[in-house]
Amino acid sequence: MHQGIRSKFVKVALCTSVLAGSLATVGATGFAKVSEDFTAVWSRQQAEQVALTKETTAPNIDLNYELVAPDMWVWDTWPLQNRDGSLATVKGYRVAFALVAPHTYTWHERHTHARIGMFYSKNGKDWTYAGIPYDYDKALGHMQWAGTAMLDEKGKVHLFYTATTDMNANGGKAWDETNWTQRAEQRIAKTTFDIGADRDGVHLTNEGKHQIILEADGYHYETVENWNGNIIPAFRDPFFFQDPNTGKEYIIFEGQAGSNRAQLKPENIGDEEYRQTHSVPAGAEKYSGNIGIAEVLDQDVTKLKLLPPLLESVGTNHQLERPHVVVNGDNYYLYTISHTFTYASGLTGPDGVYGFVGKGGIRSDYKPLNGSGLVIGNPSDNPYQAYSWMVLPDETVISFINEPRDENGQVHYAGTFAPTLKLNVDGDKTEIVKEMQPGEITPFGANR
Ligand code: FRU
Repeated sequence: MHQGIRSKFVKVALCTSVLAGSLATVGATGFAKVSEDFTAVWSRQQAEQVALTKETTAPNIDLNYELVAPDMWVWDTWPLQNRDGSLATVKGYRVAFALVAPHTYTWHERHTHARIGMFYSKNGKDWTYAGIPYDYDKALGHMQWAGTAMLDEKGKVHLFYTATTDMNANGGKAWDETNWTQRAEQRIAKTTFDIGADRDGVHLTNEGKHQIILEADGYHYETVENWNGNIIPAFRDPFFFQDPNTGKEYIIFEGQAGSNRAQLKPENIGDEEYRQTHSVPAGAEKYSGNIGIAEVLDQDVTKLKLLPPLLESVGTNHQLERPHVVVNGDNYYLYTISHTFTYASGLTGPDGVYGFVGKGGIRSDYKPLNGSGLVIGNPSDNPYQAYSWMVLPDETVISFINEPRDENGQVHYAGTFAPTLKLNVDGDKTEIVKEMQPGEITPFGANR
C-alpha cells in the first residue's frame, strides 16, 4: 500500500535462508532443491542487512517533471506484455496501463477512487493518455487496483486487476469512506478486450465480462474476515507469468500469511547463531506479508489453483506489493515493492524495490539479492520521491513520482511517470547503471 495513505492507515491501526521441513539437499550452487509446498523466507536476519549503497540508491528526481495525464493522478504502471513476457506492440504502438484518479480528488483520496487508465506511445517515451477503457458499472470492486496485462496469440488483451471492496459494501448503500481499510476485501479479477490501432491511436473495444478468478482461502492466504488488524488486508496485485522453462502459467500476487504460517517460526528470525542473540520485539508476528502464487489451468486464465506462497516475510515486513518475476536461464528473479512503514519493529529500510534470486524453478530456495534484498531505494534525503517500481525483462525499471520534497522540504504530490532506471543484474548482485527518460519503455524480448 502506498505511503500516501499511510496517515490513514496509521490512524486505523496501517543468511542464508533457514528453511522449513521440506528442504532437501543443497547442491553445488548453494541452492537447495525444494518441495512443491516449500515457502522461502525473507528473515529478520537478512532484512537487518538492508542499507542504501551506491549501487542501490536511486538518483534524485528532477522536480521539473511533466504530468503524463495533466488532470489525473497516475501511479502503479505496467506495460502490455505478450504471453511470453515480451513487450507487445500493436501496429507500432506500445501500450501501458496505470492506476488513475482525477485531480478533483485529493492525492490521499485517490486510492478509493482508483481506476485503470490506458496509455500508448510510438517511441516508448511520449505517452498519450487514452482514458479508462472499461465501463465502471461492469467492473468489480468499488475501486480497481493493480494490475498486469497480457496480449494473447489471438489478439485478446487480458487485463488482470484487484477488485477492492464490494460495490455493495456498506449494505448496498453508497460508498462509505469511514474506516474503509478495515473493509478492504481484495479479490483478483480479469476482463478482456479486442485491441486495434489507427492514426488516432490505440483502441480497446468489445469489453468482456469481468470475473473474479482468485480469492483468499484463509489457510495459505489471510481473508478479510481473519485479518490480523495490521495496516490493511492484502490479496492483490496480480502478475501474469509464463515460465519459459516449463511453459506453465501462473498468477503471482501479494498476500498475507494464512492460518498455516501466520505465526513467527525460527526461520523467520534467522539462523541458530543469530537467534541466540536476537530478541524479537512484541507484535512483530503481525507483520505477515507473503508472495502468493496460483497455477493457471486454462488458456483464458479463468481457472486457477491456489498454491502455497513462494516467499514470506512473517516477522519482517507486512507488505510485499506488486510482486513480479524475471527469468534469465536458470535464475528466477522475484521482485516486490515495499515501504519503510511496513517493516516490523526493530527493522527498517527505504521505500524501494526488493528482489530475491532462486534457481531451477519458480518455487525455489530464494535468497535476497545483494545479501539484504534491496535493489533500488529512494535516496535518504528524498525518501518518498518515487514508488511502485516494476523490473521488466530487460532489467529496465519503471516507477512513478510520488511525494518528492523540494530544497525547502516542501512535499509535492506528483502522480506521473518517473524516469526509468536501468539495472545491471549479475547473479545475486545488482547495480543501478543508468537513468532514462520519464516513463521510458524500450522493446524487450521474452523471459528466457
Ligand atoms: C502500490 C499499491 C498496490 C495497490 C495500489 C492501490 O502502490 O499499494 O499494492 O494495488 O497501490 O492504490
